[in-house]
Amino acid sequence: MPSFQTTPGTRDILPPHAGRWREFTRIFAQEVEASGYQCIIPPMFEDIGVFQRLGDATDVVTKEMYDFVDKGDRHIALRPEHTASVCRAFAQHRPLAPWKVWYSGPNFRYEKAQAGRYRQFDQVGIEALGVDDPQLDIEVIALGWHFYKALGLKKVELIINSLGDAGDRERYVDALEKYFSSNISSLSQEAQATLQRNPLRVLDSKREQDAAVISGAPVISDFLSSGAAEHFNSVLSGLRELNIPFTVNDKLVRGLDYYRRTTFEYISSALDSAQNAVGGGGRYDGLVEDLGGPATPGIGFALGVDRTLLACDAEECFLPVAPRMDAFIIDTVNGTHATRIAHILRAAGFNVDRAYEGRSMKSQMKAADKSGATCAVIIGEDEAAQSTCTVRNLSTSEQVNIPQSTLFTYMSELVGAREPRRPQQ
Ligand code: HAM
Repeated sequence: MPSFQTTPGTRDILPPHAGRWREFTRIFAQEVEASGYQCIIPPMFEDIGVFQRLGDATDVVTKEMYDFVDKGDRHIALRPEHTASVCRAFAQHRPLAPWKVWYSGPNFRYEKAQAGRYRQFDQVGIEALGVDDPQLDIEVIALGWHFYKALGLKKVELIINSLGDAGDRERYVDALEKYFSSNISSLSQEAQATLQRNPLRVLDSKREQDAAVISGAPVISDFLSSGAAEHFNSVLSGLRELNIPFTVNDKLVRGLDYYRRTTFEYISSALDSAQNAVGGGGRYDGLVEDLGGPATPGIGFALGVDRTLLACDAEECFLPVAPRMDAFIIDTVNGTHATRIAHILRAAGFNVDRAYEGRSMKSQMKAADKSGATCAVIIGEDEAAQSTCTVRNLSTSEQVNIPQSTLFTYMSELVGAREPRRPQQ
């Protein structure tokens, strides 16, 4: 047993899985940059006040924050999500609106660790600030949807709701509180405790005992102002026009308090229902103002990288692949030939690995097979003396002996032309 292991809720993402994470972000960036979103990199920790705006009745704020007082006596928190940081950045730098940004990176929540729920987890996401046009809601929701499709996921469903404007939400929460209080004896102990903190969250309870009470609860759609209802209807008809299937679920409340109007989640039916939200988002029209900025509407989403990749595993799509390897150099003379040839081929754009420590031909050949390379380039005593090399195609086992000076041309024919990385010396 080693002295140290990862702490609960954290994981090492090992090769080749880590390569898949990078590819995930690359595809995401490509999708969203094509719609005008530019990359933002906010800090991983901030004044805790930035995140307290997520809602003093939410678990994220009351139970899950990684916070500490630093050596300068500042009360700091590791970010539990990116949206508040992006809004703080908007209030601080006052860029021209509309401001459309995307991000990727780790977040920290002290949650009960289990498969699909971690204390450090990654998200990719977008935020668009300064526009309250429902056409933007449609763009945002469609971008998330199409990204899942780009990964090859087929079992992702879109659930959508409107939480109305600030006043609508308050009136609804009052009605919920009254309703649940009058049915309190039928609720589970846990739901009763949740009711004290945040009546909206009772709707999230997955306990059987609460299901009957929840099914009779007031619904938000009866509390929407005409502006919020009209906005919501425009979003739904836009999604229909783009042929994006959705289900309206008026019990969808989300775990953060800043949401107004459109809220949505992407759910994977390939995952266990407890952790099946692979992404979520919505409007947060009051958040920039709460953080000391000008009144600014905003909408965005964050997609959980860890969970989305679990969904990919379950659907057997977007599986991890090791990086391409073109050649593996075997040098049974003294290793310096491999150094020189690898240097030249790498500069010419080929991906090249090699063996070290003067191992036997058999052991270097084994390493070549394990590397996944297209071919082995072999330098033994004869090849070194004649300035040739033997190129062995590792899938067909065919071998040819060629002058080292023609290796570049031979490789280009075998694996295809590559873009040079450095000028040839
Ligand atoms: P969220 O629903 O808290 O929203 O998180 C978004 C996604 O992050 C979830 O659907 C899930 O896939 C993933 N996630 C959350 N917590 C964990 C965890 N402990 N372990 C693994 N994955 C997790 C937000 O964070 C909002 N900032 C989204 C947003 C952006 N709203 C507007 N703009």
